[in-house]
Parts: sequence; structure tokens; C-alpha cells
Amino acid sequence: MLQAKVFVTRRLPIELEPLRSLATVEVWPERQPPPYEILLEKVKEIDGLLCLLTDQIDRQLIDSGKLKVISQMAVGYDNIDITAATTRQIPVGNTPGVLTDATADFAWALLMAAARRVVEADRFTRAGLWQTWEPDLLLGPNVTGATLGIVGFGRIGQAIARRAKGFEMQILYTSRQRCSPELEQSLGVEFATLEHLLQKSDFVTLHTPSVDDTYHLISDRQFELMKRSAILINTARGNIVDPDSLYRALASCQIAAAIDVTEPEPIPSDSLLLTLDNLIIAPHIGSASRQTRSKMATMAIANLIAGLRGDRLANCVNPEVYN
Ligand code: GLV
Repeated sequence: MLQAKVFVTRRLPIELEPLRSLATVEVWPERQPPPYEILLEKVKEIDGLLCLLTDQIDRQLIDSGKLKVISQMAVGYDNIDITAATTRQIPVGNTPGVLTDATADFAWALLMAAARRVVEADRFTRAGLWQTWEPDLLLGPNVTGATLGIVGFGRIGQAIARRAKGFEMQILYTSRQRCSPELEQSLGVEFATLEHLLQKSDFVTLHTPSVDDTYHLISDRQFELMKRSAILINTARGNIVDPDSLYRALASCQIAAAIDVTEPEPIPSDSLLLTLDNLIIAPHIGSASRQTRSKMATMAIANLIAGLRGDRLANCVNPEVYN
């Protein structure tokens, strides 16, 4: 059999030797993702593609090649046309589980930073404005004992709840499926409708996937339901929040927010959101602990190798291809 060919759309934080012994490997060397036209050319000559969420893997691209496997180094895969891949019997891999804690930790970092105004405090200090201890300088709300609303209660939402317990918070969650009473009890969480959760929560944190149902799930009406002092955290996907509604809510100082994801990504340099002090914006780094990124890359390579060998992927988002 001819040696398989694979294309890896960015440099990865691990050695690729196990893959190189099985396939001819080309790694896109730039910091920016390969342009779509390049991907379209590459896909004609490769058996396996290792991609990131910045790569648009649509039907045209999938239909242009003879891929045996698509392996995404991320848990989310909204950049890939899964239906098109499934039609062509191409398994698509992802990297769930290994980034749960890192992402939950980062959501907490954002929550704490927004509540206690860490980024504003740093700017204030560097601007030479720290002149004395002031009773009312940079005040924020209590985190301990506050009410936390978790929207989306999969692996990451539940990891958020485990951390919230330590802060003695009252924890509401909403999700398509309610958890078992045993799980609710052990996590100390209470099921709520989205409306109720928005009305009651001091902090609202988003952990749903990006699907048709969650597109702009948080828009004007939802911001109106929130407490005027509420803080919104988004480490899930940018398009779950309508950016114009977010701007309106923040500009009227109705709420504060901390987000790791935007719509579109990266955030355009002329976005009005960048002018606001009550918003913290990070460049999609929720899973960016060294250990986690290395585990994600290892898992993505393992999925790629399994696909090239014709074995079942350990983590496959379209297992129907095996029916
Ligand atoms: C990151 O956003 C991921 O989906 O892994």
C-alpha cells in the first residue's frame, strides 16, 4: 500500500513521530490558518486531515477529496459539515474530556476577574492612578454566596458547578435534558428554565454547543431579563450571544461581561465592544493550559491514525459511519 498522506493545518505542541512512521506528513507552517483555497488543493491529495476550529471544512471541501478521516483538535466542531462527512462515510474525530477542567478553570478566571475588576485594576495601576487606599475604589459584587446560572450542563457546565460549590453559591442550571435527582443533589444544583435562571442569577455562564437552537440564544430579551448587576461569562461559542445586543446591554451599563469567544473571531478591530470598560475579552484560550493542549493534540493524532488504519476512532462525532 502507498504511504498515506496527511495535512496538519497548524504546528502542534507535540512530536509527530508516531504519525510520521505511518504517513507522509505536511504541517502548515504559518501562524495564520491555511486559506480556504489552499485547503481545497491539499484535500485532493491527502488521506487524512488534522484541523482546528479556525478551518472551514464545508461540503465543497469534503466532496473535493477522498479523505479517510477528519480529526479536529477541539471538542467543538461547528466549523465542520458533519452531514457532508457522514454522507461520504468519513469519520470525524474530536477531543472531548481532556479540556473540561482547563475550560472550567478559565471560565472561573473570567468570572473572578470580571467580578473583582482585575483587568480594570491593572490598567488603573499602570496608568499611575493609584494614589491611596480608597474605601470605594473599584468595588465589585461578592462571588462567595452569590447565585450562579449555568446555561448548558454537559461536562464543562458540571465542572463549573463543582467549583461553584466551594464558593458556597446557589447554583441554577438549564439544559435540554434535566439531570438525575442524584446528580443534582451531589452537585448541589437546581434545574430552572432559562428565563428563571436569567432573572435570578448574579453570574450567568454559557456552556452550550453552537447549534441552530443556541444561535443568539442570548439577545435583547434575555439581557432585559437579567439583573442590572449581572455578569455574563461566555467560554462556549461567540454566536450564542448576539453581539449587538451585548453591546447595547453593556453600553447602558446594564451588565458586565467576560468573554473568551466572539462572533466573528477574531473580533474585528473596529468592534464597538472593544471600547467598553465593563467587558473583558480573551482570544479564545479557554483550553490553553500546556498540559491540556498537549493532550488535545495527542488525542487528535490518535484519532487521525485510527482513521488512516481503518480502525474506529476513540472519539468520533458521527459514529453512524460505522453502521
Ligand atoms: C474550543 O473551543 C474547543 O471546542 O475545543
